Amino acid sequence: MPFSVYLQQVDPDLAGLLSAVADASVKLSDAVRNAPLRNLTGAMDATNVQGEIVQKLDDYSNQVLMDYCKSSSACAGYLSEENEGVTTMNETGALVIAVDPLDGSSNIDIAAPIGTIFAIWKRKSAVGAIHESDFLQKGDECLAAGYVLYGSATMLMLSVGKGVQLFALNSGTGMYELVNNTIQLPTKGKIYSMNQGNLSKFEKAAKNFVAYCTETDKSTSRPFSIRYIGSMVGDLYRTFLKGGVFLYPAYEGETKGKLRLLYECIPMSFLAEQAGGKGTNGKERILSIQPTELHERCAIVIGSSDLVDQYIAFSK
Ligand code: AHG
Ligand code: MN
Ligand code: MN
Repeated sequence: MPFSVYLQQVDPDLAGLLSAVADASVKLSDAVRNAPLRNLTGAMDATNVQGEIVQKLDDYSNQVLMDYCKSSSACAGYLSEENEGVTTMNETGALVIAVDPLDGSSNIDIAAPIGTIFAIWKRKSAVGAIHESDFLQKGDECLAAGYVLYGSATMLMLSVGKGVQLFALNSGTGMYELVNNTIQLPTKGKIYSMNQGNLSKFEKAAKNFVAYCTETDKSTSRPFSIRYIGSMVGDLYRTFLKGGVFLYPAYEGETKGKLRLLYECIPMSFLAEQAGGKGTNGKERILSIQPTELHERCAIVIGSSDLVDQYIAFSK
């Protein structure tokens, strides 16, 4: 089923914005695949609001998404990893979108998987300019969330709150087609995915969890395998299809981790729950967290319910 036909079942405002995001991602998929030929590899001479070096493709992706979102009349506001504040797009629009335009920046120059992550809410204010408060909404209030993986294939994983659907980009037609109507994240997993080199910096629960994953126990298929791409989109695509757990835990003595709540942790947790998996910061469901800052960071443990529950047990 073409993506455009799938969208006929979706509320027209939401369908319009999702169509714009999908169109932007088709353009970005082409840019990613030709980045070395279009002067889109390497860094800009700039850092973003979070003090991170901005890659040329981070900036390009943000510009493309801003253009396409603005072209959707339903899109009232835009928040991005690459922009300090919120941007009003259409004052009469009903929706707001938070995006990580290009996830996995460290993988751009090595042609490894990267992606685009997004979450959509209904705006809180009625009309007019958009405010920060329009974005400070829980994941439980999300209308839709998804991500596009620019991997060996370009894949769109999406949920509008009715399970998780997976679309593949047909490079011949330039259109997405449904390939799986009900993604089910396996409840049990045998893979853990984390930057274990940072283990000494992570909270006690993470250390106990790694000890659990690496010890031998035939009945639970341990030790588990470790797989870590370093792009959340890539690591989670595998996790959704094969099961396992992805974690970027809280640093020792802190409650927050590296990844951002509004445009990384919430959209991925929305998808995980819609697919029968779980997403937590160790103490609380990610989707229950009330955001207080636009670029708030959050610890995340996400994937197969048995492994997420195991981490939660170590956090008590
Ligand atoms: P971004 O490129 O949007 O800043 O996100 C990178 C994130 C995420 O994709 C990945 O899981 C994580 O950073 C990797 O971090 P480490 O390099 O610390 O492992
Ligand atoms: Mn990211
Ligand atoms: Mn990014």
